[in-house]
Amino acid sequence: MVCSAVILAAGKGVRMRSHIPKVIHRVAGVPMIKHVVNAVSQAGIDKITLVVGQQSELIKDIFAGQEINYAVQAEQLGTGHALLQASSQVEHDDMVLVVAGDTPLLQAKTLQQLIAHHRNTQAVATVLSTIIDEPYGYGRIVREESGQLARIVEEKDASPEEKRIFEINSGMYCLQVKEAFAALQKLGASNAQGEYYLTDILEIIKNNGQKVEVFLTEARDDIYGINNREQLARAEKIMRQRKNFELMMAGVTIIDPETTFIDSEVKIGMDTIIYPFTIIEGQSIIGESCLIGPSSYLNDSLVGDHVIIENSRIKEAEIGDECNIGPFAYLRPGAVLHRGVKVGDFVEIKKSIIGSGSKVPHLSYVGDAELGNDVNVGAGTITCNYDGKNKWITILEDGVFIGSNTNLVAPVRIGKNAVTGAGSTITRDVPADSLAVERASQKHIEDYSRKKERT
Ligand code: UD1
Ligand code: CA
Repeated sequence: MVCSAVILAAGKGVRMRSHIPKVIHRVAGVPMIKHVVNAVSQAGIDKITLVVGQQSELIKDIFAGQEINYAVQAEQLGTGHALLQASSQVEHDDMVLVVAGDTPLLQAKTLQQLIAHHRNTQAVATVLSTIIDEPYGYGRIVREESGQLARIVEEKDASPEEKRIFEINSGMYCLQVKEAFAALQKLGASNAQGEYYLTDILEIIKNNGQKVEVFLTEARDDIYGINNREQLARAEKIMRQRKNFELMMAGVTIIDPETTFIDSEVKIGMDTIIYPFTIIEGQSIIGESCLIGPSSYLNDSLVGDHVIIENSRIKEAEIGDECNIGPFAYLRPGAVLHRGVKVGDFVEIKKSIIGSGSKVPHLSYVGDAELGNDVNVGAGTITCNYDGKNKWITILEDGVFIGSNTNLVAPVRIGKNAVTGAGSTITRDVPADSLAVERASQKHIEDYSRKKERT
């Protein structure tokens, strides 16, 4: 039986009050719609059609390079109308799984159970439901006395009695394509919102004498639908708990999961310890046996094994094995640290390569620089890389020793094993193995304190 999936994602998401489509708002760093697509493909379905509306290019960008079909719903006339737009994509399939794009907590297991139930019961339509304490806002599952589904009623159309039903519609369905699309043709829009409700096809199918099933799941979080920012924050919290749990089960110590925020796609190796108040975002990959935090913020960075990062900001940087960063370091985009590099307190590094074993321990700015191996940069050293118009490069060859408080006025190259005297402003290249000193010789004005008293 050929099964494909349609994900409804054309809605404006008015309740989000946003300039961008609802389904691209992020949960744990990943757009909601991507979470949903991931769950569907992990459930074993590889033919996926997204129904998109306005600003669809923003959605297409997320899946660039991925094999996804798109159907366009130009006008948002309701969920039933949305599914109808995908008819040419699914008409040759036997069965279609329909899910909403605004349920980011959805997991493959729940979808697989829904599909299995649909197949085992040989239903024409199966809706996934659950029972929750606060059903407000959801469509309610109205059952007949026999327990069979009677219909689904939306919050806005529900009678006071129906509003007291706690079994809700997840917005996810398994449908036999032929029968479902025949039913979609018969949908009307005479309801409180004047929309073509997908939910109404269940009643139509049932009235045709065809089998409609309700599959009740206990995975409440999975079907949590995001309509506003408060719900977005709740989903965020649950997603982060899941991520932390997954990492802990895989051998990562998280001292305080409550104050640790790790995006869904981040990877962390075994025996790494994450201290509180740490945020790790984007596509970051952290190796094994690292100590990260407290109070560190990393995004889209690569970190090797046995690395220590304390109280630091790391942005789009690469850190080799056995590096020691912080406290209070700032690694900016393009900072590449090879093995065993030390970057200490109040050091900023931008777009620079730092060779193995090199040290920038205190109060420095290193930008557009190339440091060889075993270079030592004294406290307070600055690469003067910007002349107001252009950025220039500083090169420190292997074994260079930069005295404290040196200004390296780029472009400039310091040869192998050369030394600069503390406080020098170096504007010309320094030959290998030499000492470069640039400062006035020290003067002493005798009796200075007594002279001062007299004036
Ligand atoms: C829908 C269900 C409701 C269910 C709830 C579960 C209907 C009529 N109601 O309500 O029974 O309890 O989901 O979360 O189906 N969409 C389109 N085009 C449209 C309208 C919506 O693509 O014209 C998409 C949205 O982008 C969204 C999904 O369909 O991803 C659900 O739409 P939404 O407006 O959020 O429906 P709910 O009111 O939550
Ligand atoms: Ca919704």
